[in-house]
Amino acid sequence: QQLDIDIEAIEKGGYEHFMLKEIYEQPRSIHDTYRGRISSDPFDIHLGGLYSVLPNLTEAKRIILIGCGTSWHAALVGEYLIEDLARIPVEVEYASEFRYRNPIINKDDVVIAISQSGETADTLAAIRLAKEAGALVLGICNVVGSSIPRETHAGVYTHAGPEIGVASTKAFTAQVTVLIMMAILLGRRRGTLTEERYRELIREVTLVPDKIEKILQSEELVKVISERFKDSRNFLYLGRGYYFPVALEGALKLKEISYIHAEGYPAAEMKHGPIALIDDTMPVVVIAIKDSSYEKIVSNVQEVKARKGVIIAVVTEGDTTIKEMADYTIEIPEAGEIVGALLTVIPLQLLAYHIAVMRGCNVDQPRNLAKSVTVE
Ligand code: G6P
Repeated sequence: QQLDIDIEAIEKGGYEHFMLKEIYEQPRSIHDTYRGRISSDPFDIHLGGLYSVLPNLTEAKRIILIGCGTSWHAALVGEYLIEDLARIPVEVEYASEFRYRNPIINKDDVVIAISQSGETADTLAAIRLAKEAGALVLGICNVVGSSIPRETHAGVYTHAGPEIGVASTKAFTAQVTVLIMMAILLGRRRGTLTEERYRELIREVTLVPDKIEKILQSEELVKVISERFKDSRNFLYLGRGYYFPVALEGALKLKEISYIHAEGYPAAEMKHGPIALIDDTMPVVVIAIKDSSYEKIVSNVQEVKARKGVIIAVVTEGDTTIKEMADYTIEIPEAGEIVGALLTVIPLQLLAYHIAVMRGCNVDQPRNLAKSVTVE
């Protein structure tokens, strides 16, 4: 007798798509990424893969973060983190632009390539260029033994586990987790963090998995929102500070899998263009977390409402100000700014996922896209 086993269904672990499974894996994949590397008893950060290069990295005059797609968004979060916590100047470059524009690379620069697959052709070419110029070149990759880890001087693996869905989810949050650890480690070594802040930051990281579990419980609400907006033709995503890259990532997720046009923007830049698009058919997703720029984001929401835009806001638990103005709000547990990107991206992944499913799109293998772009 023959057993009819659907291997793919087993691999999906009961989820309808790999993407949804991978979204739900994030509490664990983030934990796997920091497990054994960060501890709050005693407070410590240890990134074994960087051990041999730590003196050079700590003394870097400049760090250049390179990547493509979602990995480039992780790099943007990394820029904010490293400049904020370690006070080293950071530049973020698309690998494809960097490699073709005759960039200035100095010997005391550190180039860090971020890549899920470790095989992206442009990223690989960019690291070769940086190596030739004499820079220290590091990698933050997910696929063990792939080309980028083999060709870089040192690096850190993300430990997110295999990511099958073409649209990156858990690889992104694992990349950001590594960047948070690197920024704290560098801040510690450079003396830019007080002991108290250092401990507080480590504690913040260890609280992330439980907070994401909680955020995932808002899936039903996200479905309601998706049903309402699944036929929209355009979306705008706004955020400030750490949430600007999250806005870009939320918009990219929607574009990739639902084929709806979406743009991510720094909220303050809205008045320099996108505000012209806003009318009563335009959903505007705003990441409006209570942080140092909260008052500013409140006024951006008012500006959108004054033009009859529809607001879907990601807010801090218990927020009432935005709730009164927004059409829909999704709550996020209170957390420190440095982990904010890890939390706020979750509902945006779910939103893109459900809209795409409702539109009948092939979520795991969207048209025209590849998981790993090994051609130029
Ligand atoms: C492709 C994938 C994206 C990914 C990008 C960079 O476009 O579809 O999900 O973000 O490549 O890939 P990498 O493997 O270098 O992170």
